[in-house]
Amino acid sequence: MKKGTVAWESPSNIALIKYWGKIGRQYPCNPSVSMTLKNAVSRTQLSFSERKDKWINFEFEGKENLDFAKRIEKLFEGLNDELPFLSQYSYSITSENTFPHSTGIASSASAMSALALCLCSMEELITGSKLERDEFLQKASFLARLGSGSASRSIYESYATWGGSDAFSKASDDFATPFSKYIHPIFKDYQDYILLVSSKKKKVSSTAGHGLMNNHPFAKTRYDQANSNFEQMLGILRSGDLENFIEVLENEALSLHGLMMNSTPSFTLMKPNTLEAIELIRDFRNTTKIPVGFTLDAGPNIHLMFPKKDSNKVDAFVNEQLTELLEDGKYLKDETGLGPKQIYTAGGE
Ligand code: PMV
Repeated sequence: MKKGTVAWESPSNIALIKYWGKIGRQYPCNPSVSMTLKNAVSRTQLSFSERKDKWINFEFEGKENLDFAKRIEKLFEGLNDELPFLSQYSYSITSENTFPHSTGIASSASAMSALALCLCSMEELITGSKLERDEFLQKASFLARLGSGSASRSIYESYATWGGSDAFSKASDDFATPFSKYIHPIFKDYQDYILLVSSKKKKVSSTAGHGLMNNHPFAKTRYDQANSNFEQMLGILRSGDLENFIEVLENEALSLHGLMMNSTPSFTLMKPNTLEAIELIRDFRNTTKIPVGFTLDAGPNIHLMFPKKDSNKVDAFVNEQLTELLEDGKYLKDETGLGPKQIYTAGGE
């Protein structure tokens, strides 16, 4: 086959138990579990044609992006064993996100998972053989992991784990494992409002962030804590115990930020308004008994998580008390999503 085009849409995800620290070929130092989002997605199209001087051209939202092109080049170079045909073609890749730039939403998770799915579709086009759906997704998750660890989990709808654990025999370091079939109904349409405290570019890249865990004085304690929180969280996702959900969720978020604060070098990624919003969220929860909890990624923005049935009351709380702490009063409403969608596949001579 001389040329072809494939395209996929793939979502971001929010980690409930955080992956922070990696070894070897992007293996996680502890297991993680995440909720797949619905509205925050990347749409990526990959066209391949006969190899020319320029190997990879990457455009993000209509503009050439050399940094991401380099990252893709590095990824492709490392995939010789898995996808030996990659070096035979040149690539024109375009990608766009449905969510605004630099909002602290993990765009590498959606972008790398969409790209990995494109590579799996391309392989099917070139070889003319189709994998079973489960195998296809597992391969995509494996490839996504090599692009960005958290991207491995975006391949699956609703909830996914990544990283081997005694608490879940199907879990693996190599790829994510779907967890949706074990989920209590309360979590099936769980809400995640992303409160934009600041959209400034992150002070620490995630690669540098994971690197902070090498020789971190609390690394072993953290990995023990993460394993224990992981086991608890899987139980909670099955049982629907919201009180413990919130306790573990917030413990993970603040542990991640604590680890960054006492790393060398040290990073404080929360802003004063992040802390103020956290206080207000906890006060609201204590007074109303509405089970809203928060988590954070490696940035200042807050993910406010709660059951769908409480949406009206939480909307009022956010509008009355939190929007004044947010950049331009902005927040994005998201919720549990159904996973990636194939958009297009065509190839020819
Ligand atoms: O996938 P990476 O390398 O961008 O790391 C993601 C790290 C966190 O978002 C902080 C946690 C996680 O598990 O998603």
